[in-house]
Amino acid sequence: MLCRALPKAARATALALMLAWAAGALAAGQGPPPREAACHGGQYREERALMVRRQISQRGVKAPRVLAAMGKVPRHCFVPARQRESAYADHPLPIGQGQTISQPYVVALMSEALKLTPQDKVLEIGTGSGYQAAVLAELAGEVYSIEIVEELGKRAAQALAGLGYGRVRLKIGDGYQGWPQAAPFDAIILTAAPPKIPQALVEQLAPGGRMILPLGPRFGVQELLLITKGRQGVISRQSLGQVRFVPMMKSD
Ligand SMILES: C[S@@+](CC[C@H](N)C(=O)[O-])C[C@H]1O[C@@H](n2cnc3c(N)ncnc32)[C@H](O)[C@@H]1O
Repeated sequence: MLCRALPKAARATALALMLAWAAGALAAGQGPPPREAACHGGQYREERALMVRRQISQRGVKAPRVLAAMGKVPRHCFVPARQRESAYADHPLPIGQGQTISQPYVVALMSEALKLTPQDKVLEIGTGSGYQAAVLAELAGEVYSIEIVEELGKRAAQALAGLGYGRVRLKIGDGYQGWPQAAPFDAIILTAAPPKIPQALVEQLAPGGRMILPLGPRFGVQELLLITKGRQGVISRQSLGQVRFVPMMKSD
């Protein structure tokens, strides 16, 4: 499935299932606008707690602030109304425009790897539904997020504002360029996969900063990579496993 981690043992079977699921998800395509049905953040508390315990904590994500954020943000308010019953399931979901909201475990894993503090300024590339941005807003001091598909960016802005995350700064644009006016960032997260590490984003990372991204081919298996910029600007890379994300698009 898209935006999903692939544990080693299950990789071959999962890959076949993923491709079948992805075809369905992409065909499901266009989601209804969020105004179609009101969303209440207080619903699905039990489902959310179970998600945190079974899908996230038991798989090794332990950072208490990340677990608390995943237990707090109402994921069901970021998916199209017809997907709400599945919002806490262990897989990505279609959000319209051929895009997906990532699997909860992947959101938690990437958020934990960034080691965010309340003083940090973080940039997300690929706002999508706005869910990851809300999780980041629980963990960092300032959140910037860029989405290339205008329709998705507008919907995410509504969802975030409606849930009290209006301080997340959103921009419709091409994430390859980053957000130079707001740089440098303590952390950068890419939720779409580029074929190469975008140099502009590395440059916008502060000394001591962390960047996480799925790196690899369009609709293939990608490597989840954690990049760290040392105090002297030296870049180091660490692989966190294999994933499948939607490709990062380029603007015309
Ligand atoms: C897996 S989805 C994002 C999931 C999102 N973080 C969430 O929480 O719902 C990837 C998103 O990246 C966006 N995207 C793809 N290429 C992009 C680019 N060059 N700049 C900004 N956003 C991009 C897609 O439109 C899509 O919404």
